Order: sequence, then C-alpha cells, then structure tokens
Amino acid sequence: MPSFKIALMPGDGIGNDILTASQPLLDVLDLDAEYVHADIGWSHWCNEGEALPPKTGDILKGCRCALFGAITSKPTGEAEQELVPRLQGKGLIYRSPILTLRKMFDLYTNMRPCKSYPGNPNNHGDNIDITIFRENTEGLYSEIEFHPFPDELRAMVSRFNAAMDRFAAIPSQEMAVALRVITKRAASRIIRRAFEYAQNKGYRKVTLVEKANVLRETSGMMVREAHAIAADYPRIELQITYIDAQLMWLIKNPQDFSVMVTSNLFGDIMSDVASQLVGGLGFSASGNIGDKFAIFEPSHGSAPKYEGKFVVNPCAMLLSIKMMLDWLGEEKKASALESAIASVVKAGKVRTYDMGGKSSTLDMGRAIADRYVEVICGRR
Ligand code: IPM
Ligand code: MG
Repeated sequence: MPSFKIALMPGDGIGNDILTASQPLLDVLDLDAEYVHADIGWSHWCNEGEALPPKTGDILKGCRCALFGAITSKPTGEAEQELVPRLQGKGLIYRSPILTLRKMFDLYTNMRPCKSYPGNPNNHGDNIDITIFRENTEGLYSEIEFHPFPDELRAMVSRFNAAMDRFAAIPSQEMAVALRVITKRAASRIIRRAFEYAQNKGYRKVTLVEKANVLRETSGMMVREAHAIAADYPRIELQITYIDAQLMWLIKNPQDFSVMVTSNLFGDIMSDVASQLVGGLGFSASGNIGDKFAIFEPSHGSAPKYEGKFVVNPCAMLLSIKMMLDWLGEEKKASALESAIASVVKAGKVRTYDMGGKSSTLDMGRAIADRYVEVICGRR
C-alpha cells in the first residue's frame, strides 16, 4: 500500500495535455504515492452549476497534496450563458474553483519561481532567478464585491470616509465596489514565508512590492508588517517598491531581484510579467502552499485553442512537480528533475513551438522523464 495520495486534477483546456505529458515522469519518480483523479472545471460548471464538485473537496482532504492542470474562467455574464438551460436564470454565480480551493484549504502562500534556464531562446537574459511570494487568500481576491452598491452600505462608508461624498450623486446601479481586505495575519505570514525562504537559500534581500503611496491603509499594512518581520532577519535587506515602477525595473534589470513578496492581485500580475523574462508562461510554475496541504499548478491558463493538440510546453507543469518534490522533502529528486529540465532545454533537440521547435508536449515530457532517469542514476 502506498503511504500517501496525490490528487491529479487536469481541469480544462490544455490541463489534460500537460498532465498527460507529465505521466512518464510521475512513473519514474517512484514516489510512495497513489495518484487519484479529482474532477474540476468548466464542464462541471456548465452541467452542474458548480466548477468544484463537492466530491473533489472530499478527495483532496484524503490527499497529501495535489497537482492541478489549468482552469477556464469567464466573467459572470458569459458564464451564465454557458450553463445548461435548466440551470440558467437561477442566480448561480461562477467562481473560479482554484480560488475557492486556495481559500478552502487556507493555501496562503502562492510561490512562483521565475528562473532562466540557459539555452532557452526566449530568456531575457541568463542568471535570472526570482521567486515571487504572492499572498493567496485575500486582497482584491477577497470576493467581497458589490453591484449595485447597496445604499445602506454607502451611507455607512460615508460616515467613516469623506472620500465617498464625491460619488453621492451616482446611482447605485452605476457603481461597482470591491473591498481590498489585507489582514495583519495574512500580511505577516506571507512576508515571513518570503524572509524564511531568503534566509534558507542565502539570499540577501527581500523586495516588498506594494503601492503604499496611494493605497495607504491596505498597502500600508503590508509595509508595516514587512518592517516588523525584517527586524527578525538582520542579515537580509528589506527593499520596498511600488508595483508600477517595479514591473518596469523587472524588465530593465531582472538580475537585481531575487525574493519578492506582494499582495494577491499584484502578485498575479507580476508573476505573469516575470515569467516572460524566463521563457513565458510555459515556464511559470507555482505552488499554493498552506501549513498542511498544497496544490501545485502552472500559473498559465487553459489555452482552449490548443486543447488536445499536445503542442504546448509542459515545463511549467514539470517545474510545478519539482516544487511538489521539494515540499514533500524529496530534495534529491527535486534537484534531479530541475537538472533534467535544464539539460533538455539546453540541448535544444526537443523543443515545443514556443521555443521555436516542432516537438509535441508529449515528446518534451518524455525527453525530460528520460533525462531524469539518467540524472538520478548518476549517468551524465
Ligand atoms: C493564476 C490565475 C488565476 C488567478 C485565475 C485562473 C483565477 O491567473 O493562478 O495566476 O487569478 O489567480
Ligand atoms: Mg494569473
């Protein structure tokens, strides 16, 4: 009997392509794990009105961690139109299941490494090695949004903040409002994760990316917590930047940054930008990590136009598996996998279209699994 379970959730679009391409690797990794399938995704929304079937939550509770492919998300109106007729007009609201899972399991760290592997023609430079720590449970992803904006709430807000008066003449129907919730607890734990990581890996600087000159209270909370936590790590410099300038600096001087930490939406945006420095979304791995459970997934979307064509780059998924191995304490396997990926990228014989090649998703997955076996057996 394997000693633990890992859930496999292909999800939508190319999710299945990249997880199928990872199978040869999973086979040779030889973990003492049973892999169990769990349903999630757009077809469940369309047919059942819920993209995250309740059964999936139960399956995940019995697993040590999960691998997730990709998810299709659409705005409310479009999502409603794709429901089967019997579910339409019932007020069902589409919510991205990955966002639900992040909150359900309190996976508060979204760790997104962006590292350039030499030989990749899409790198914006060698020696880029950035890890973004994105807060994963609140901020503008708190899902506390209003449209119309209720009059009662508006009156209440006016009592506490005169800035609301400017909108007094706007009808409620014409006003949509979101709450950007930043709690001290969430700010402090994500920032601590970033500092711990920097300390363990020997980095000398942590960059907090916010917008405290405008978002005085919410970004202000992040900045305050960052100062408090930095005091526990005297050997690590705390650098504080603004998201707009930071994205520009990332493109200009990516080598200047290593460990970065930010709130939810800024992290979502910054990680896509940063991935472009190291070969694009085909290399954008991520881990949604809590205290006891974690879900590893590429941070790219479901790319529906490529679904089933087996042309996309599976490296983001394979690098996410590498993160899973680290999290499971399988450091030797993790580093062998990373070497295998680096060496296939460098050799350049097997390349998906994004790197200018003609190989399929499956070819790339197979080449990396084969190389992994060589590396782990000490054959060079
Ligand atoms: C990501 C994705 C998700 C997000 C989407 C699919 C809801 O863009 O993981 O970065 O916004 O977090
Ligand atoms: Mg994103």
